[in-house]
Amino acid sequence: MYNIEVADILKNADKNNHKICVLLGAGASTSAGIPDFRSAGTGLYDNLKDYDLPSPESIFDINYFKINPKPFYQLRSKLFNKDFQPTKTHSFLKTLQDKGILSRIFTQNIDGLEEKAGIDPELIIYAHGSIKTSSCVDCKTKYSIEYEINKIPICEVCEGYIRPDIVFFNETLPQKFIQSVPQISKCDVLIVIGTSLSVYPFASIVDYASKDCIKILINKEKVGPFRFENGGICLLGSCDEIVNDLCDILDWK
Ligand code: OAD
Ligand code: ZN
Repeated sequence: MYNIEVADILKNADKNNHKICVLLGAGASTSAGIPDFRSAGTGLYDNLKDYDLPSPESIFDINYFKINPKPFYQLRSKLFNKDFQPTKTHSFLKTLQDKGILSRIFTQNIDGLEEKAGIDPELIIYAHGSIKTSSCVDCKTKYSIEYEINKIPICEVCEGYIRPDIVFFNETLPQKFIQSVPQISKCDVLIVIGTSLSVYPFASIVDYASKDCIKILINKEKVGPFRFENGGICLLGSCDEIVNDLCDILDWK
């Protein structure tokens, strides 16, 4: 029932000159074969027992990485050894772009599947960085390297560890993200997809949306403000299936 309501909102977005912002999380990429973080059983944090970590999140903590980068690189080798392809959800976002109604995507994902789906990099705001470039943890020299499986890359200048330019826990978020957050207050429709909205400051940017903004959640479970009455429209289930359904209703190919 809500699908029809949401399809209507999308159908009229152009006519109403509506700006759509999207907030994206790991759930958008699970069907590509990349696990999310917190889903019970399948999420990354439930599957790190062999790494002997103080806590599951330590694997993405910069202070822990500086002491022991091995678990991070082991995980990286295990996870990112395939050529992942964008999901139906990424294609749906590309369709929003093609229809001229996509204002910005704020993504926590570092897998680069938004760009791979053909979304204009100018429209993507990376909250947690990306794996496109790397730098030395000590002297910050930039690297553009292909990682060798099971090998920790070392800086040629100072022999420090090289890390991908993703945001680890205990690091600040990219300036571009911080500067772009106020744009959320100007959007008319905010679509939140595949995130538990449990990591701050990203989770708090939903609160930047205005009172009149139409808020839509596409996720397996209710999260953040969507758990409350009047939190927004919730389309619950697999995001690929939901966006397929919306495209069918809208007759979008
Ligand atoms: P989470 O794993 O915390 O949340 C993923 C959300 O997507 C959950 O609510 C799932 O129920 C939902 N989900 C999973 N697969 C889905 C599917 N196919 N269809 C619909 N919903 C689905 O992932 P994020 O919220 O992205 O940060 O995690 C946020 C941050 O925590 C990450 O960017 C990362 C992590 O620690 C850092 O490492 C700094
Ligand atoms: Zn260095």
